[in-house]
Amino acid sequence: MSDGEGAVEIAVDLPDGGVLAGMAEVVREGLSSPFKELPPKYFYDERGSELFERITEQPEYYPTRCEREILDARAGEIVAAAQPRTLIELGSGAATKSRVLLDAMRDAGTLERFVPVDIAEGITRRVAAELVDEYPGLTVEGIVCDYETHLERIPRPEGALIAFLGGTIGNFRPAPRRQFLARIATLMYPEDRFLLGTDLVKDRARLEAAYDDAAGVTAEFNKNVLNVLNRELGADFDLGAFEHVAFWDDDNEWIDIRLRALSEQFVDIVDLDMRAHFARNEEMRTEISTKFTRERIESSYADAGLELTDWWTDADGLYALSLARPL
Ligand code: AVJ
Repeated sequence: MSDGEGAVEIAVDLPDGGVLAGMAEVVREGLSSPFKELPPKYFYDERGSELFERITEQPEYYPTRCEREILDARAGEIVAAAQPRTLIELGSGAATKSRVLLDAMRDAGTLERFVPVDIAEGITRRVAAELVDEYPGLTVEGIVCDYETHLERIPRPEGALIAFLGGTIGNFRPAPRRQFLARIATLMYPEDRFLLGTDLVKDRARLEAAYDDAAGVTAEFNKNVLNVLNRELGADFDLGAFEHVAFWDDDNEWIDIRLRALSEQFVDIVDLDMRAHFARNEEMRTEISTKFTRERIESSYADAGLELTDWWTDADGLYALSLARPL
């Protein structure tokens, strides 16, 4: 395509069923173990994604606002430090955060390409079409995939800033986190930079309030995963029979998010040909949200073959963006 016009190319690399592929096995395993557990990726059906958007607007949930504050204040510095021609964003969604970085790249005169990576095809196509209009000459080379399994399939021109924002890294346990960061490090060219958003360790009251807002939006978000199981697997969870639990685990430095059965429950899951039993007060983990210190991020980077080069927090020091380069 000629200069100034921009080009869009979106590759789709999803298994049949998208994010729900393999769900039956994962849920069977999670509900059969002595300590029940579900992966957080099933939160995000249409309703769950809406509820998450509402969480980010709750007064107690500071991470999204803090990250935005840092991006608004520091995008110029980030771009000056990373000198990227391409922005790759893992989990780009509506690209609200990407735009702040794309603006700074445009202002620096280095912007060439945007690579949105997201599991949701519709929004990725819409955003790509909008962005080529908004940024003259921009090439959008998106990929619709699960970045965790398909990381190596992502287009990666040299001179890229790979952004993983929102604090989503907090959902990983330590070993998978190390592996994920190591895979990113392996993909990076020497001049590439990695930009990571992480929520920080702070007092228990503030952390626990962020995951149990007074309006009950997080509780509704958490219970909505049972609706997803009811719909997708023919389960008959009674949402009223479970309560939302979120507590700070000081040893692991994560918020532990669970659903607690208010009374004994027998849940039929037709598609799994399975009946799950919950004792009264039994808890099922639905998510962890790890919080970090600068030291912990530096050591996570070092373990993965990365080196921290820059560190920015919001004015209150609640949340951090860090930049890393491959060793
Ligand atoms: C989207 C994973 C960053 O951990 O804060 C918010 C998800 N869960 N409230 C987080 C979430 C409950 C969120 N992340």
